[in-house]
Amino acid sequence: MTNNKMNQLIKEINQLLGQTIPHSSLGTDLEDSMRYSLEAGGKRIRPVLLLLTLDMLSTDYKLGYTSALSLEMIHTYSLIHDDLPPMDNDDYRRGKLTNHKVYGEWKAILAGDALLTKAFDVIVNDANLKDSVKMNLIKRLSFASGHLGMVGGQTLDMQSEGSAIDLNTLEHIHHAKTGALLKFAVMAAVDISEPEQNVADLLETYSEHLGLMFQIKDDLLDVYGDETKLGKATGSDIENDKSTYVSLLGQSGAEEKLQSHTKSAYECLEHLPKQYDTRNLEYVIELFNNRES
Ligand code: IPE
Ligand code: IPE
Ligand code: MG
Ligand code: MG
Ligand code: MG
Repeated sequence: MTNNKMNQLIKEINQLLGQTIPHSSLGTDLEDSMRYSLEAGGKRIRPVLLLLTLDMLSTDYKLGYTSALSLEMIHTYSLIHDDLPPMDNDDYRRGKLTNHKVYGEWKAILAGDALLTKAFDVIVNDANLKDSVKMNLIKRLSFASGHLGMVGGQTLDMQSEGSAIDLNTLEHIHHAKTGALLKFAVMAAVDISEPEQNVADLLETYSEHLGLMFQIKDDLLDVYGDETKLGKATGSDIENDKSTYVSLLGQSGAEEKLQSHTKSAYECLEHLPKQYDTRNLEYVIELFNNRES
C-alpha cells in the first residue's frame, strides 16, 4: 500500500462527504454545524478500512461509498457528543474548536442527531446496492451504533468515571465504544461482497483486534501524544478520572497489550485463503500500531 493510494481514497471520501450535507435548510445554520465537524479533517480511517476490505475481497470498492460515508457521519456525531461538557468536556477536535464551542451546546446535540439519522438515509438511497444488501447494512449499522454498540460503550465509559474497574470491564467498554464502529467498517464490506463464511469469520476477528488496538493507542496518545499532531488536547482521560489501558496497566503494560492484539490481527489475515492479497489490510495494522494522530 502506498501513501498515494491511501491519500487517493481519503480524497475521494472527502469529496463525497463534501457533497452529502446540502447547504439548503429550514432557515437555520444546522447544516453549517454538521459540515463544520464533518469537514474538519480527521484521519478517515474507518471509511478507508471499509473500502480496502472490499478491494481485498475483489469487489469494486465504489460499492462501499455510501456505507463509508454513513460510517464517518456516525463516527463524527459520536465525537461531537463525546466532546460536550456533560461528557468529556473537550475544547479541541480535529485541530479546531469543538462543535459546541462554535455553535453552542444545543445545536451541537442536534447536529449530532442529524448526522446520525442522515447516515441511514444515505444507505437507503444508494441506487447501486440490492435491497437485501442495504437491509443487512442498516441492520449492522444500527446495531454497531446503538445501545449494544457505540452508545452502550459510551454509557459504560461515562458510568465508570471515577471508579476503579477491572481490565475485563475496560475491554468490554473499548469493544463497544470504539470496536463496534471499526467492526462495521470491515463487516460492511463482507455484507456487500458476501464471501464464504470462514472468510467472514476471520475478518470479523481481525476487526475486533483492530478495535482494541485503536483504543489502546488512543489511551496511550492521550498521555504521551503530541497535541498538535493529534488535533485534540491530551490529558483529558486523567482530568476526567477515566480508567484506561494506561491507568490500569501503565505505559509498558498498555504497549504489550497493543502488541498482542497486533499479532492476533496478523494471524487472522495469515489464515485467509491464499487467493486474497492481504497487504493493504496488513498496512492498516501497522498504521494502527504506529500512528501519532
Ligand atoms: C477518535 O477517533 C475517537 C476514538 C474512537 C478513539 P479517531 O482517532 O479516528 O478520530 P478522527 O476521525 O481521526 O478525528
Ligand atoms: C471516544 O473515546 C469514543 C467515541 C467517541 C465513541 P474517547 O473519549 O477516548 O475519544 P477521544 O480521545 O475524545 O477522541
Ligand atoms: Mg469519551
Ligand atoms: Mg473524548
Ligand atoms: Mg481518548
